Amino acid sequence: MLIEIKRDKPEAVAADVLAVPLWQGATVGRRGAAAQLDARLEGLIGDYIESGDFKGTLNSTALLRTRGMIAAPRVLLVGLGEKSEPRELEHLRQASASAATTARKLGATSLAVLPPAVSATASELAQAITEGALLGLYKLEKYKTADDEASQNALEQLTLLATSASAQKELQRGAERGQVIAEAVSLARDLGNSPGNDINPSYLAATAQTLAETTSLGCRLLDPAEMEELNMGCLLGVAQGSAQPPAFIILEHTPRGASGAPIVLVGKGLTFDSGGISIKPAGGMEDMKMDMSGGAAVLGTMQALARLNYPRRVVGLVPASENLPSGTAVKPGDILRAMSGKTVEVINTDAEGRLILADALAYAVEKYKPACIIDLATLTGAVVVALGSQATGMMGTDDDMMTRLREAGERCAERVWQLPLFDEYSKQIKSDFADIKNTGGREAGSIIGGAFLKEFVGDTPWVHLDIAGMAWTREGKPYVPKGSTGWGIRLLLETLESMPAPAAKAKSRAKAKAS
Ligand code: BES
Ligand code: MN
Ligand code: ZN
Repeated sequence: MLIEIKRDKPEAVAADVLAVPLWQGATVGRRGAAAQLDARLEGLIGDYIESGDFKGTLNSTALLRTRGMIAAPRVLLVGLGEKSEPRELEHLRQASASAATTARKLGATSLAVLPPAVSATASELAQAITEGALLGLYKLEKYKTADDEASQNALEQLTLLATSASAQKELQRGAERGQVIAEAVSLARDLGNSPGNDINPSYLAATAQTLAETTSLGCRLLDPAEMEELNMGCLLGVAQGSAQPPAFIILEHTPRGASGAPIVLVGKGLTFDSGGISIKPAGGMEDMKMDMSGGAAVLGTMQALARLNYPRRVVGLVPASENLPSGTAVKPGDILRAMSGKTVEVINTDAEGRLILADALAYAVEKYKPACIIDLATLTGAVVVALGSQATGMMGTDDDMMTRLREAGERCAERVWQLPLFDEYSKQIKSDFADIKNTGGREAGSIIGGAFLKEFVGDTPWVHLDIAGMAWTREGKPYVPKGSTGWGIRLLLETLESMPAPAAKAKSRAKAKAS
């Protein structure tokens, strides 16, 4: 998609559809671009608002034919809902997606948007419009041989109208950032939506290698022999039931001049989770192709960090495996030895995510001595029971990081909610035969997953995000079509953006001293 910022007046822009997002209860006013546009349209927009035919409720639309009064043949009024501070950009993101998908349905190839007034910078505004439009139009077409309506129509150009030269620059910056982010999320969605017979551990590894070839990222892959060498008994144990070899992906973002311990992101890359010998019920099992969504989010985030020239060192780790039952599969009662040396009794082979993460977390701690670790995993059905599809379950050992993630989540509308990790919960995973076991009874399922992971992070500041309720959607919303959501990339980028670079920190301290 071509994205342009233009200083055209709205009445002069020659797009197939001109979208005018409007807050609920707002009028076109007497001055400004919207008022001028309405004057050219002989008060058509004002009529729609005053008559109540268009009320501005979130994602509502009204289509007007302009009959030659302005350059664009259609104006699309789009409702932004109530103008309520913390959610303004989220409403804009949704309305932008509604405008883009409506324009696509009309067969439009170009869409122009008249940016509304919001309590945010021009850059944030453009980012929200761009993210909304691109993510709303997202579609995986690869597996369809017959074109449906949406794939026959393709929006090729998005224009944001700027009111001044300085706004134009800021809008440009925001739109570029929005496009980079939307492309990262789309990559993750493609991986989550594509079937397990294509997306296996080797495919994820090849994807990481392609990322390294197309960006400044460094990539290393561990093969099973190297995993053996490192004593990654848990990852190898999960993978031993499958004909597909496991993979261990290492992506490094090392900006010039950046020093200090890296931030490590870890994502569960389970490319199909049948449950293994503790097999899952058949109903809905097909959705378990998305059990690599944490890994996909890490790959997408790393791509975006490189393209945005993020100033700090970041490492992305993705342990990848299938979980299948077979004559060679790990069995309940089996004891595995993790890379950290801890022994794990496998009670339920369906609690496999924590096993492959255990070795990745231990690898992160041992090889990188990280400033902090954030892991993302579709870890438990229990988190879906607890929080549904509105928030990710968050646990960890670092309150500052968790506060940062919660606030970033509110800003970008990828919310997290903290669950406790009291030491007492760890009693539930004591094993009679090994150091620990991989499940701990019916109570507090998601927390037990977190308590298990905590065994492998030592004293590294660490946060675990259980994204099982957020990685996939059956309903969808305007900028999140049904299926894989790509959840977590926007949250991680927003969080990392809020973290001062260690060098900059030292400088400002020196400055403070000098003055
Ligand atoms: N991948 C699943 C968790 C999951 C459930 C993801 C629903 C997305 C939607 C995970 O590997 C799993 O099977 N967890 C078990 C853990 C249990 C055996 C302790 C679960 O939640 O049932
Ligand atoms: Mn499982
Ligand atoms: Zn799983």
